[in-house]
Amino acid sequence: MADKSMQGLVDALRAKRAQLEQGGGAERLAKQKEQGKLTARERVAALVDAESFEEFGLFAQHRQSSFGMADKEFPADGVVTGAAAVDGRLIHLASQDFTVLGGSAGEVHSLKVADAMQRSLKTGSPFVFINDSGGARVQEGIDSLSGYGQVFYANVLLSGVVPQISLICGPCAGGASYSPALTDFIIQTRKAQMFITGPQVIKQVTGEDISAEALGGADAHMAHSGVIHFVAEDDEEAVYVCRRLLSFLPSNNLDEAPRLPTDTSVDPNPQLNDVLPVDPKKGYDVRNVISGIVDQGDLLEVQAGYAMNMVVGFARILGRSVGIIANQPLVLAGAIDINAANKAARFIRFCNAFNIPIITFVDVPGYLPGVEQEYGGIIRNGAKLLFAYSAASVPKIQVILRKSYGGAHVAMCSKDLGADSSFAWPTAEIAVMGAEGAVEIVFRKEMQNATDKAARRAELIEQYRQAFASPYIAAGRRLVDDIIEPAHTRRHLAQALEYLQNKRDQRPPKKHGLIPL
Ligand code: HXC
Repeated sequence: MADKSMQGLVDALRAKRAQLEQGGGAERLAKQKEQGKLTARERVAALVDAESFEEFGLFAQHRQSSFGMADKEFPADGVVTGAAAVDGRLIHLASQDFTVLGGSAGEVHSLKVADAMQRSLKTGSPFVFINDSGGARVQEGIDSLSGYGQVFYANVLLSGVVPQISLICGPCAGGASYSPALTDFIIQTRKAQMFITGPQVIKQVTGEDISAEALGGADAHMAHSGVIHFVAEDDEEAVYVCRRLLSFLPSNNLDEAPRLPTDTSVDPNPQLNDVLPVDPKKGYDVRNVISGIVDQGDLLEVQAGYAMNMVVGFARILGRSVGIIANQPLVLAGAIDINAANKAARFIRFCNAFNIPIITFVDVPGYLPGVEQEYGGIIRNGAKLLFAYSAASVPKIQVILRKSYGGAHVAMCSKDLGADSSFAWPTAEIAVMGAEGAVEIVFRKEMQNATDKAARRAELIEQYRQAFASPYIAAGRRLVDDIIEPAHTRRHLAQALEYLQNKRDQRPPKKHGLIPL
């Protein structure tokens, strides 16, 4: 006979909760730990502030009666959902529990996720989805597909309203990988794999033989597909990256990112006067420029292992969150290719949606030439960069470090694309192209007719360089606002951010623009 006294009911409730919180049971939890993974609940605990988690739907159950599921209970239907605080700020989250039916997404499982997302939308709080799942729950057939559909739909509703972050901590297979793909940032651990069709199917269909790791591991998605934004060694690191990322972001599109007391000084940094190599043809790591300017030298680089000719990431100046975009002269001499344009355009659009000012460091010889680039659609993809910069209405600040040539000069947040402030270092060269290329076009005949062709060529290159390889002509035409001493860059950026903080940029009303996808 069940004890119906209050004490009896409370004891029963406690026992039931404890049992459900065990997920798929001790054996499966132990297996998860053996693989070096945290459990679904441990991941939540590691992510959120202590004692802040409020769960929704611990008692939720599936409605499936076939495949022997009628009388089976699956704790929380394989996904832990709820609200919590991260650094004192509200988030909503879902964490799939692989110990319960492989974290597979049945109808109720997905409805729980979609419900947590709706709560994010209503409360203007970021949504974090921790993925560890065998995908759509096979036993629930099309009901599970429908559930996934609702998650995708919610992903799109939330897009641009609240930040959405996906952590991939275990399998994320088939259509399930499209929810992360619809979110703003994906953090994948080295213990996780993500693909639409796995190695076995690929082998059957195309004959290609590839391991799951090489196909859908974190390194593959960082280096090749560009699907993910951060690689984490393990769950602990993934959660750390997620918290750090959230610290740079506002809770929603109507908020500002939190301003932190990270660094209040604008003292000159003399090292910046020597950061560029003397030889203008030599590469250097643009991250050394960035770290010499931003608070505590701290840059959270996004997609650090993809399209490395373009560096993007979050930093702070006087505690204000900023999005940084920079050509990287160390890779492809900083030329813009398809992947770099896509990477930067997406990042610009994220910053714009969430009121994060954009600072662009320019050292670019042009768009990357090549048949592969042309066939791959560098025209269409490169145009995304121009579109994203032109459409961005947040404060936009340009700093030209060295080369700024041709179409790439225009594309890298030029004043003509709406930069609010443009600074140039004295080393800046703003021209249609490099002096070598320019003299070949303009003075070809003259060089052919010269008695000493090489000497005349060198002379003409020098003349062209004298005329254009400085920022003064551009400043004369107001294409740059000021030529500044590198050491003082931080102070200039801090001031520009201060006076641009209330920037208003009205655009003609429309449903949406048509970025060339
Ligand atoms: C139901 C599932 C499941 C699923 C795993 N399980 N995936 N149950 N539906 N999709 C169950 C297993 O039966 C097993 O139950 C438990 O989870 C653990 O799985 P294992 O196979 O033992 O684990 P492991 O060896 O680690 O392999 C993990 C895995 C594998 C690689 C994810 O389980 C797998 O390949 N699963 C199927 C993946 C898949 O094809 N999913 C559908 C994708 S299509 P027991 O009781 O034995 O412990 C899709 C469409 C979405 O997702 C559509 C959206 C548009």
